[in-house]
Amino acid sequence: MKIIKSAGEMQGYSEAERCRGRRIAFVPTMGYFHEGHLNLMRIGRKRGDCLVVSIYINPAQFAPTEDLDAYPRDFERDRTLAEEVGVDVIFFPDNREMYPEGYQTHVEVEGITNNLCGISRPLFFRGVTTVCTKLFHIIKPHVTIFGKKDFQQYVTIRRMVRDLNMDIEVVGMDTTRETDGLAMSSRNVYLNPEERKSALSLSLSLDLAGELYDNGERDASSILEKVRTWIAGYPHTEIDYAQICDVKTMKDVARIEGECVLALAVRVGKTRLIDNRVFGESLEAGERIFHAGGR
Ligand code: PAJ
Repeated sequence: MKIIKSAGEMQGYSEAERCRGRRIAFVPTMGYFHEGHLNLMRIGRKRGDCLVVSIYINPAQFAPTEDLDAYPRDFERDRTLAEEVGVDVIFFPDNREMYPEGYQTHVEVEGITNNLCGISRPLFFRGVTTVCTKLFHIIKPHVTIFGKKDFQQYVTIRRMVRDLNMDIEVVGMDTTRETDGLAMSSRNVYLNPEERKSALSLSLSLDLAGELYDNGERDASSILEKVRTWIAGYPHTEIDYAQICDVKTMKDVARIEGECVLALAVRVGKTRLIDNRVFGESLEAGERIFHAGGR
């Protein structure tokens, strides 16, 4: 496994792979790997001849008040885990490599980034789409794999790739969970044992919403009221948002028709956690190419 820190060297490597007719699969990450990250890599391993993973904690997607400095990191552990999964290259640039002095170009997706995390984290998606565009130009992947745990990020990247005619297949992968249901996240390490119990309120309230939906409930506010009450019943929780949106527009819906997502962001102590559940059939058959565990 190679570790590449320079964008130029990475571009040279990818160009050579492409010239040999090899398909490049790419998983962007901020490191501190958990099984969710590793599952994206396992899919990438199957999907490409060459698997590249980036580890870069992108300052452009953190607000000054957020956890950029505290964000967990352990490169040696990540390197070992990536090697076990069969990663060919870790692209591991530093800030000077990604945003050299004089940097002034940004990529923004409008519309679908205005709701949910776009409200609580106004510069977040601009940071994500900018860094992913840069990474796509550096790594030149044929296919890239994103987690649906960060659902709005996933649909935003899909939108950007389509809008800007980037010749990349975007594969979405279902959320990997702990055995009790908590969505895996690098930020779960911030939780103390009491908060860890309260963190379960997210996935449990999504299960509750799923039951209501399965029993025929389609009224968004009725489901959301029960979800909010459920979460509020746990100590140390503060809801940032609980909304049901159309997956195409990411705008709130009054009734669940077609494919909708119930998206949650909840502060548990000081840690902000997100999770979601998608309801309804996909309007674009074939778009959800992968689910956890296989093709
Ligand atoms: P990070 O939080 O490290 O996540 C990297 C990828 O792993 C994302 O596609 C995310 O959706 C996915 N992921 C995280 N937890 C997951 C889980 N429990 N199950 C399945 N997939 C999961 O998301 C980012 O980094 C950054 O915003 C990035 C895209 C790298 C741009 O900086």
